[in-house]
Amino acid sequence: MSNTQAKKLKNEIDFDNIPEHVAIIMDGNGRWAKKRFLPRAAGHQEGMKRVVDIVEAAEKLNIKYLSLYAFSTENWKRPKEEINGLMKLLVKYIEMELERLNKNNIKIQTMGNLSKLPKIPRQEVERAVKLTENNTKMILNIGLNYGGKNEIVRAVKNILEDIKMGNISEEDINTETFSNYLYTKGLPEPDLLIRPSGEQRLSNFMLYQMAYTEFWFSDVLWPDFKEEDLCRAIIDYQKRNRRFGGI
Ligand code: FPP
Repeated sequence: MSNTQAKKLKNEIDFDNIPEHVAIIMDGNGRWAKKRFLPRAAGHQEGMKRVVDIVEAAEKLNIKYLSLYAFSTENWKRPKEEINGLMKLLVKYIEMELERLNKNNIKIQTMGNLSKLPKIPRQEVERAVKLTENNTKMILNIGLNYGGKNEIVRAVKNILEDIKMGNISEEDINTETFSNYLYTKGLPEPDLLIRPSGEQRLSNFMLYQMAYTEFWFSDVLWPDFKEEDLCRAIIDYQKRNRRFGGI
């Protein structure tokens, strides 16, 4: 699938400094469709194909963790038809890709409240998570009914419950232990956030985890996002000087 441009850009990448964890807000499907006088669903469909491509590209680049924002807690505000379409695409993605992902040693995990998902997509996601649970090459972490604010509130409630049950005490709570109550328990924080489509905001994505994440924005709409765009983001990331509050 590599085109000449992507190959050229890959030569510029320092493979000793690949961001370990890349997070992507996949945005612009609707605008992509509108530009072509197509229904929004066509944009999402094309967007799903980019998920296939970019996961594969991330595997080849040796990215260890890839977090994708597929459905937010706010996306329920969309028309029912669009929500159903997105759920169907999720099922289709799993049907198309699960075997290959498993063969390539990719572990699928999710963040968000899956219990609110319709039965079929929920079961398919659970099947994918179970099948791939012992895989080790890369973690594909998918945000489904995910919101950063909800995640933090949920963590606080679970901490209070654990204190009440005597499992932990107040003194045990610090930024390290707090992160164990997030969906991303055990995962390093994202090194690089990519948001295509020209929007420059977090939209409730991984709020706690992005304290020191490098942000990379592009005007390309998600359905047009290519391996070469991922390479560009990484090359740019590698030029940055990450100080984490130090000097
Ligand atoms: C944002 O574009 C995109 C979404 C809300 C859905 C993302 C879903 C996919 C890419 C496909 C399915 C996902 C998986 C993991 C198989 P938008 O609709 O807000 O675009 P707009 O801002 O241009 O209207």
